[in-house]
Amino acid sequence: MEKLIVARALHVLGVVLWIGGVALVTSALLPAIRDFSSAEERVGIFERIEYRFARQARFTTLLTGITGFYMLYALDAWDRYTTLSFWWLHLMTFTWLIFTIMLFILEPLVLKRKLQERAQSAPAQTFAIITRMHWFLLILSLITVVCAVAGSHGGL
Ligand code: HEM
Repeated sequence: MEKLIVARALHVLGVVLWIGGVALVTSALLPAIRDFSSAEERVGIFERIEYRFARQARFTTLLTGITGFYMLYALDAWDRYTTLSFWWLHLMTFTWLIFTIMLFILEPLVLKRKLQERAQSAPAQTFAIITRMHWFLLILSLITVVCAVAGSHGGL
C-alpha cells in the first residue's frame, strides 16, 4: 500500500480514538460523575479516570500530528499554510496545537496542581469549569473533523 494512504488511514485512526475519547468523557463520564458523587468528590474522581485517558490521548495526538505532517511532506504541500483557501488545514493544526499544549505542557505542569487547589475551596465551580472546557474542546474538534473531511475532498 502507498505510504500516503497508510499515513491517511493512521491519521483518521488517531482522530477517531482521540476525539471519540473526548466525546465519551464530555458527554457521558462528566455528567455521570456529577450525578453520582458529592461536589467535594467530583474533581478527584474525574482526575483518577482522566489520568488513564490523558495517557492514551497523548499517544493519539502524537500519531495524528506525525501522520498529518508526514502527509504534508509527502504531498509537498507546506505552501498550503500560506494560502487562506486552505483554512481547514490551519484549523486542523490549530486544534492539534491546543490539545498538544494542554496535554504535554499545561495539564502536567500547571493545570493539575491549580485544579486540585481550586477544588479545595470551590469544588462545584471547579467541576463546572472542567465540564465547560471539555465541551469547548469537543465542539472545536467536531467542527475540525467535518471541515477536514470536506476540505480534503475538495468540498470547501
Ligand atoms: C498537526 C496537525 C495536523 C496536520 C498537519 C494535518 C494534516 C492533514 C493533511 C495533510 C490531510 C490530507 C489533506 C488532503 O488530502 O489534501 C489531513 C486530512 C484529515 N485530517 Fe488532519 N492534520 C492535522 C490535525 C488534524 C486534527 C486535529 C484533526 C481532527 C480533529 C484532523 C482530521 C483530519 C481528517 C478527518 C482528515 C480527512 C481524511 C480523509 O477524509 O481523507 N487532522 N490532515
